[in-house]
Amino acid sequence: MERSNVEVQERELETVENRVVFRGTYATTTPRLRDATDLAGCVSLLELGARLGLIETLRRETSVEPERLAAEIAVPVQKVRALLHAYVAAGLLVRDPDGKGYSRSEEFDDYLYFSGYVLWGLSACRPFIEHTRDYLCAPKAPQSHPRDGGLVAVFSEWVGSKAFYPPVLGMIREIAPKRFIDLGCGTAKLIVGALGAVEGCDGVGIDLDPGVCRLARMSAAARGLSDRIRIYERSLQSLVEDPSPLDGADIVHAGFVFHDLLPEETDVAVAVFRNCHKALSETGGYLILTELVPYESNERERKFSSLVTYFHMQFMQRRLPRPSEWAALLHAGGFQEVEIFEVDMPGARIIRAKARKSDRNDPLPVFAWDKSSE
Ligand SMILES: C[S@@+](CC[C@H](N)C(=O)[O-])C[C@H]1O[C@@H](n2cnc3c(N)ncnc32)[C@H](O)[C@@H]1O
Repeated sequence: MERSNVEVQERELETVENRVVFRGTYATTTPRLRDATDLAGCVSLLELGARLGLIETLRRETSVEPERLAAEIAVPVQKVRALLHAYVAAGLLVRDPDGKGYSRSEEFDDYLYFSGYVLWGLSACRPFIEHTRDYLCAPKAPQSHPRDGGLVAVFSEWVGSKAFYPPVLGMIREIAPKRFIDLGCGTAKLIVGALGAVEGCDGVGIDLDPGVCRLARMSAAARGLSDRIRIYERSLQSLVEDPSPLDGADIVHAGFVFHDLLPEETDVAVAVFRNCHKALSETGGYLILTELVPYESNERERKFSSLVTYFHMQFMQRRLPRPSEWAALLHAGGFQEVEIFEVDMPGARIIRAKARKSDRNDPLPVFAWDKSSE
């Protein structure tokens, strides 16, 4: 890295109150450092806003007034004003011309997106960092120091806002489903987006986590969509015995949830794919996975992909399939036409498969599972 900040970078002489002053700076002009300091400022401001329940309102409304926000999040209004002032100072919000309300700046969505990566690694996965030794040496570490599923879902969604929801929403718009189903739906952001994108579409979300299901229902209610979105608090695994929530699906999407079944429950994952195929072949629909692949080594992806792969393999005891292995899992589930797309999130792929009545189930090959780290 360049160390240009050890030298004073000269600026022009200036006249201040009739006296000529030399103004220098030790601040670096290296854009990468500016990126890091800008991001550090926004990450913490946005995380505390998320923990207060403020960010969702800021994203949903075009303009917010401090009095209403204060009542909504149960914080004294002068404290809310001080926080909104900090957001304005950081360039995340702007004051409305009438001086009463606050709106998102042009940069807000970008910083939320960039912060999603940092907060997934540093906040949602905090137990892995604070209790590394236990995670590496004590078998009970995941029970003693679990991750907060709500934080995982929220920060994944911030990453998704630009990295993978837009391409998935593009596919949804094209396919125009009457029923969109999201497995491991998290905060139901994608379902809400699908209903906005396709007129007359209804949505079904399935998620194991009660807190996440509560957030998903609140999100649907806040947008007046409670009668068009059904949230089931249940596991993917339960769809093997009772696939009825999949009935009528034109699209079944699953974002970052099937890898949670691998490798121990590979057979269960394939059984769920089979039931998805059965439901989707009735409508000629699509299964769309947004999923992880291991250790992508190209320059664009290698850093974040390495973190994600390492965390999954060492702290969550997961195996991430390579793209061809994802395709093999879907072939075993009955899907024959499989397409794989890169997305902005390093180490993530969209895997899309169309269901046809004539499809056959291929046998599952023996997986090599990536052993490069062992
Ligand atoms: C990483 S988050 C992704 C959320 C959302 N799909 C997205 O892309 O933003 C994974 C979600 O799957 C849920 N989940 C994990 N294992 C599950 C299982 N076996 N059955 C149902 N949901 C599960 C978690 O509660 C969490 O909300």
